[in-house]
Order: sequence, then structure tokens, then C-alpha cells
Amino acid sequence: MPITYDPEKYADYQSIESGTILNVELNHINTNLRLETHQAVWSPTPFAIKMGEFIVSDGCHEKVVMDFASGSGFLSVIAGKGGATKVIATDLNPNAIMMTKRNWALNNLNHEQLYAIESDCFDAIKGHPEIEGQVDMIYSNPPTAPDLEGEIKRLSAGDWNINGQGGRIVNDALITQGRHFLKSDGEILFISTSKQGSKLTCDLLNQYWGKGVKADGDDPLDYAIDWETRGNANWAVVKRIDLLLSDYYLPFLAHIRQFSKEQGQPEPVIEKDGHLYQKIYFIRAKKVD
Ligand SMILES: C[S@@+](CC[C@H](N)C(=O)[O-])C[C@H]1O[C@@H](n2cnc3c(N)ncnc32)[C@H](O)[C@@H]1O
Repeated sequence: MPITYDPEKYADYQSIESGTILNVELNHINTNLRLETHQAVWSPTPFAIKMGEFIVSDGCHEKVVMDFASGSGFLSVIAGKGGATKVIATDLNPNAIMMTKRNWALNNLNHEQLYAIESDCFDAIKGHPEIEGQVDMIYSNPPTAPDLEGEIKRLSAGDWNINGQGGRIVNDALITQGRHFLKSDGEILFISTSKQGSKLTCDLLNQYWGKGVKADGDDPLDYAIDWETRGNANWAVVKRIDLLLSDYYLPFLAHIRQFSKEQGQPEPVIEKDGHLYQKIYFIRAKKVD
């Protein structure tokens, strides 16, 4: 029996029985889609939905789009329904690639327009002339959990979100290598968090994308502007949300705080009314040759 997706219950969907069909009704952006779940594949969270809103408002008509770390394929399906000529989806988890393909088909999209491939970051698509320098837009909602033990058993959806010492492997690969896959004037839009260290993210963006918009104060990413108002900057935070830290992250909290202290980062989590929140930054960057 299909169930209607409720963003408030997103944590429950990470372990729901495989094969459950979620009806995701995004009426505010005229986009409804269906997603089949898999217990070892990440299902959309409220900020994946926000990313979906950006994809719809950007428009994908006749664009080549990459969904970097695709999980269920949620962002791929939104881009496909928005008229992308091609969607390239990558994920380390083979089950995510399987589900991205299944969910593409479940939404009646043309299989010839999806290229979904298991890949550790960009590894499997490096050196492909039909992909390098050909992408208009890369969307990504990267994993953010730090690796506590060094050796990971990847069984559940959450296990696949463990992403190196600072939870930064995919985030950093996108910032340091993403432009190589873009056409000139192509863009990336991705989600980064205070848990991973916002100064580290800001410094890497400056190094690889050039001048960006920075907030005054301790946290350089703590602001949001309309992309069109960025002037001559090549990157900017275009949306900022405080998200209640879900129980999933509590076992990682001490490690997150320690990493942040060692790296001289702003507070990774903030406390409001007795609850802990992480800051979520939606960052857009443009390739300017
Ligand atoms: C937060 S989920 C996002 C899934 C989907 N894009 C969404 O918005 O719902 C992050 C995804 O990153 C994938 N991942 C983890 N490490 C990776 C790596 N080294 N290379 C590529 N993908 C990776 C995980 O398997 C997971 O599907």
C-alpha cells in the first residue's frame, strides 16, 4: 500500500520496509512523484525537499544534470520530470544506484536519459569525455556523518552516510573536482552543514571557485542572499536553515565537537530552547573560466 510522504517523519523512512512506495506530493512546486524505499538507501529529508524546490525553480529543460550521491534518486527524478535531456547519477552504494534506476522507471521516465553509476565520489566518471566538461548543473545533498572507528560496516541507510573524519569526503570532492565536469558557466548547488566545519568549506570554495560572499563574524557561511544579487562573486549561500539535530547524529556529537575544536571551526551545533540544531547552508557556485 503506498503511503503519503510526510517530511516530519523523514527519520522513520530510513528504516521502513524495503519495497514501500512513498507518494511524495510537492504540490507547492507542482511536482508529485513516487519513490520505492530500500532499507540500505537514504530516503529524502526536509532539506532534500528544499533542494527539489531549487531544482524546479532553476528549470532543467534541455540541461545535462548530475545528481552527485543520489541515494533513492529523488533529485534525479525531479530533474528528469523537469525536462533534463540527461541525468547522470552517482553513488558509492550499489543499492542506491539500483533504486535510482528503479525510481526513475517508477516515474515513467525514459531509461535512455539516465546514466546511473556506482562511484566513489567522481572516480568512476573521470576520463569520460561524454561527461567531463558537459554538465550544466550538479545538485548534491552529500553525506555528513563523521567516521568514528575507521572501519565501517555499511548495512543500514545511515551507515552509508558515514563520510570520513569530518564527514567531508563527498563535500570536498564536489568543491575540489566538480568544476572539471561542468561546461563553462555551469553551476553546482549543494548542501553543507555546520557539523562539517563552515570555515573549512569557505576556504575550499575560495581556493577552487574564486571570490565568494562571506558573512562578517565567526561563521563565514551564516547568511543567505538571492543568487542574482551576488555581484561579481562566484559563490554564495542562497539559503540557510537551522535544522533540529535528529537522534541519528547524537552518537556522533562528541566527535563532531572535537573535530570542530581541533580544526578551529565555529560552533558545529547551536542550542535553542534546550534543543540542538545544526546550521544547513545551501551553496551555489558558478564556473567562471
Ligand atoms: C544524504 S544522502 C542523499 C541522498 C539523496 N541525494 C537525497 O537527497 O535524498 C547521501 C548519499 O551519499 C552517498 N555516499 C556516501 N559516501 C559516498 C561516496 N564516497 N561517494 C559517493 N556517494 C557517497 C550515500 O550512499 C547516500 O546515498
